[in-house]
Amino acid sequence: MKEKVTKILKEYSQEHLLDYMKCLNKEEQEKLEKQILNIDFKQLKELYERIKQNQDLESKIIEHIKYTDKEKLSEKRKEELEKIGSKIITSEKYAVVTMAGGQGTRLGHTGPKGTYILNTINGPKYIFEIIIDTLKRAQKEYGVTIPWYIMTSRENNDETIAFFEEKNYFSYDKSKVKFFKQGELPLLDISGKVILDKDKKIKEAADGNGGIYEAIAKNGVLDDFKNRKIEWIFVSGIDNILSNFVDPILIGLTIEEKQKIASKSVAKTNPKEKVGVFCKMNGKPKVIEYIELPEEMAEERDENGELVYGEVNIGTYLYNISVFENLADIKLPYHVAFKKSGYLNEKGEFIEPEEPNVYKFEAFIFDAFSRYDNMTILRVKREDEFAPVKNRTGNDSPETAVKLYNEKFNK
Ligand code: UD1
Repeated sequence: MKEKVTKILKEYSQEHLLDYMKCLNKEEQEKLEKQILNIDFKQLKELYERIKQNQDLESKIIEHIKYTDKEKLSEKRKEELEKIGSKIITSEKYAVVTMAGGQGTRLGHTGPKGTYILNTINGPKYIFEIIIDTLKRAQKEYGVTIPWYIMTSRENNDETIAFFEEKNYFSYDKSKVKFFKQGELPLLDISGKVILDKDKKIKEAADGNGGIYEAIAKNGVLDDFKNRKIEWIFVSGIDNILSNFVDPILIGLTIEEKQKIASKSVAKTNPKEKVGVFCKMNGKPKVIEYIELPEEMAEERDENGELVYGEVNIGTYLYNISVFENLADIKLPYHVAFKKSGYLNEKGEFIEPEEPNVYKFEAFIFDAFSRYDNMTILRVKREDEFAPVKNRTGNDSPETAVKLYNEKFNK
């Protein structure tokens, strides 16, 4: 094992680990060697080399994407769609996935984000509990217990499961709740070297919510969907506490439009709002994040004065099961972020840097949409379905989300 490890580290300019290994005891060395053999250093090298390349939007044809406004549907049309969607739910062909693998560092909460408490009009509630409330309301309405899958990461998986055990799954049927872990990628410092964590292993972090396709295929979740005869799967993030994930109109519309993927959207409030927007790129559906959207495109308006790129991605997606079958081996591009991360220095001291010091690579769930020619987009009312908890204070904070929650549940 030792020779193989040495060869890999030399080939990919990670020899600093060899010096470091000399200070470890035998057991620690073996653990680190095992981890090294499991890391794809070739891929890491390629990712590092591509960091400085900007995404070239200019050579792409970007267009507005068509959407259906739920508010503008006639009562009759709503009823028709609801009928189609309700049938999927009541015949137990529907499941919900919550992506909870992220770290919630912006929120400043140390545990899994779902264990954060919000003081709502209905009393103090954990974010996970708010999701269960939505599932329980659906249980009452449709008479079925919807299977719920929670995507975690190595960093928060055990703590998430322990939390649910301790809270007795908030009285939701435990046999309907499953946890699965997403993948990870090592962090790289500015010279492309891996860094070490307190546990004397290479520091890795969740590989972005785009890791969901591989995670669903590899962890038996896809098989579980099939065993349960699930046909439609709703995926949303842990951070939107108003996510309305049991929506028969969305299901009905997607089936009618003969699409395999759908998403909800809300209208962008102003060109500078820090969100991703839906569009078509080279004829395929796509989300462009605000940092990537050129200012003139962000400002562009149509003849009715609406923003051309104004359909905000609120992270709520509906999939036909065939998508997870087709995309099980998908290789998505990685986006890079420059972040702060503590590390062990060569003397074995743990350093907490003041400034960003590492590159983190993340795949985005929606980059897979371009594998399909089209998708359904349903515009919904922001105040009904979008209350993100992302930052400690200010926009998208517990305070703003609770205000929206209270307004909705005080009606
Ligand atoms: C996300 C969307 C953005 C959208 C905005 C709306 C992405 C990449 N961007 O931005 O287009 O406008 O929400 O609020 O989705 N997650 C994991 N594992 C990871 C990383 C994230 O499960 O490795 C989960 C998070 O827990 C969260 C969701 O994915 O629930 C989105 O997280 P994040 O990557 O932070 O994206 P945002 O910046 O919130």
